[in-house]
Amino acid sequence: MTTSQNVLREKARNAIETQPYKTITVLSSLLSVQDSIGWIPSEALEEVARVTSSTVNDVWGVASFYPNFRFTLPPKNSIEVCWGPTCHVLGAQSILQHILAEVGLENEGETSDQHLGLKLNTCLGVCPHGPVASFNHRLQGKMTKEKALRLTKSLMKETQND
Ligand code: FES
Repeated sequence: MTTSQNVLREKARNAIETQPYKTITVLSSLLSVQDSIGWIPSEALEEVARVTSSTVNDVWGVASFYPNFRFTLPPKNSIEVCWGPTCHVLGAQSILQHILAEVGLENEGETSDQHLGLKLNTCLGVCPHGPVASFNHRLQGKMTKEKALRLTKSLMKETQND
């Protein structure tokens, strides 16, 4: 077993053992791992199985049912474009198209180098400031095509400098 596998197993074990839920279940344990380390590595599936006296197949059955669990390392940088009704009316479509073209994607997803993820969001919760997008979890309102391109380019540069 490699050091990084050991580290992931230790992090998963810690997340499971310190989870805030009163009743420990497969689902509560998976949620704790995802909240803590941002994804569910295979080591975590094994740890959840051990703690809940389940099989890894049973744990996988629960984990794979929920689309919000991810099983690969999240991208280092993220952009979320609000696609809610207010932002849509205020020009989200055009902003999205410019960002997609800049990062080389056709729709939401991750770049092939796994350094940038783009997601659509149904409402980022600040509708009066629409159109809204977030860049590495920093909300930006009153978005324009120019501002979106500038922030996207800056994020791509950060990505390339990693
Ligand atoms: S619809 Fe975009 S922030 Fe609510």
